[in-house]
Amino acid sequence: MRLKHTALLFLLLPLSIWASSFKPAPAWLKTAAFYQIYPQSFKDTDGDGIGDINGIISKLDYLKWLGIDAIWMNPCFESSYQDAGYDVTDFYRVAKRYGTNDDLKRLFREAHKRNMKVCLDLVAGHTSIDHPWFKASQSATRNELSDRYIWTNDSTIKPERHISGKFGRNGTYRKNFFDCQPALNYGFGVPDPAQPWQLPVTAEGPQKTRKELMKIMDFWMTMGCDGFRVDMAPSLIKNDPDRVETNKLWAEIRNHFQQRFPEGILIAEWGNPMRAIKAGFMMDFIIHLGNNGYSSLFFNKVGTYRHDTCYFSIEGNGTPTKFVDYYLEQLKNVGDSGYLCVPTANHDFQRPNCGTRNDDAQLRTVSTFLMTIPGVPLFYYGDEIGMKFIDGLPSKEGSLLTKGNRAGSRTPMQWDGSEGAGFSSAGQDKYYLPIDDSPYRPNVETQMANPSSLLHFNRRLLQLRKQYPALGTRGGIRFLYAEANKYPLVYERTANGQRFIIVINPSGKAVKAECSFSGAAKEFKPVLVDRTSLKLVKDKLQINADGVSYGLFMVN
Ligand code: NOJ
Repeated sequence: MRLKHTALLFLLLPLSIWASSFKPAPAWLKTAAFYQIYPQSFKDTDGDGIGDINGIISKLDYLKWLGIDAIWMNPCFESSYQDAGYDVTDFYRVAKRYGTNDDLKRLFREAHKRNMKVCLDLVAGHTSIDHPWFKASQSATRNELSDRYIWTNDSTIKPERHISGKFGRNGTYRKNFFDCQPALNYGFGVPDPAQPWQLPVTAEGPQKTRKELMKIMDFWMTMGCDGFRVDMAPSLIKNDPDRVETNKLWAEIRNHFQQRFPEGILIAEWGNPMRAIKAGFMMDFIIHLGNNGYSSLFFNKVGTYRHDTCYFSIEGNGTPTKFVDYYLEQLKNVGDSGYLCVPTANHDFQRPNCGTRNDDAQLRTVSTFLMTIPGVPLFYYGDEIGMKFIDGLPSKEGSLLTKGNRAGSRTPMQWDGSEGAGFSSAGQDKYYLPIDDSPYRPNVETQMANPSSLLHFNRRLLQLRKQYPALGTRGGIRFLYAEANKYPLVYERTANGQRFIIVINPSGKAVKAECSFSGAAKEFKPVLVDRTSLKLVKDKLQINADGVSYGLFMVN
């Protein structure tokens, strides 16, 4: 009788309970600061104008100095480079232009020596059209890999996102992103019985694809890797209402992964942390994907994605509420079961330094905000020194999307004040992308030598997060002043009896605000403040913020 009840209970368990039944994410994630490296553009050591793994190794001490604990590196595997490495031709081999598998192993070792982690990019959903699996799969003769990709059984059937061409096989294939990126076959959540080419997830082909993915993960983890950022993580299973089968797939992978690699982490590119974490990921990003308000904070008239107004603008014509509402809902739902991350940028969209948001003071308002909200902090390479999104570049390796060009965020890292910015010994005509040609472009060497530089400021923010749990990943947040179309933005952070007030005014106008304030406050001690002030009058907090200013105050 009891057994019967237990079985019934399991059948009725909602997915959220499954999610909470995962082993917790490794403890290191709670205090980690991340840094994203675009390997092509970080540091070249062999003089071909393209960054490499040895270049990354040579900069680990710099990243350690900055306060970085973990790196996520974009794909570094053999590729056709029609999507800058997101079109893999061999998941088990480091691309020649970046080095060798042994170099990558050495990167893992060197990072670990410094108590840092390295996460790879796992392109789980598709391969390059040039991958040997695809070549076998498109053959007219049925073989082991015929079902590795999603093929219709007849070339006259061409549903949305299906590509036809001159293949040995009579059928069209499903693409995942660009035409040259055929979708790997993990099956359909609800296959259409009238379309027998739509295989269920339990079919042999999709099951083999799943096993192969786990094999790839095991391969790199055994070599010393610390985890993965999974490209397009929700896209694997097609026609999957409510992502029922997708969640099951990731749950299976997480359980397998954690059993073998208890310190390993799984990060999603899902763009909806509460959903990604329910599925089994430990962290996900709030970025340009979805209707989450990220763009309403940061996207102005220049960039890969363009908007007329945004909150972090000198014009002061944006609104913070869309982001704030979404973010609070995510935080509440994610709770302790995982982490969210609001990065400074990534390789797909513009950097903070973009369009009219282009000076040191403005960039400090962005960093102060992003580094003092709950969630895992992440600097996209170069944002720590304020590198600029470069408009008007040519398309490079598929950087151009219908919306805009991603190349502007992928330019070579600026290490020093020399002509080639210390990126490579190659002539600039060989550089992966043109370097920022401004005579005032920022660089690491100059900023390191200047304690009041943006680089030192960002380093200080990372230190403060570590010093005060209230400013850290899990501390509480309450928005005290986040009004539609108004400035400044004011919130408090709390943990272990510590309390901080943060004021951010990205607009060029001096502003005043008032909000209610409860609890005692003998003093608002300035910790990191530029032209903002707080005053408590009875139970009201009066805030003054000059144009483009910030303030981080400790409440005593
Ligand atoms: C998301 C990646 O971030 C992007 O760079 C890539 O083009 C697509 N996925 C396709 O893999």
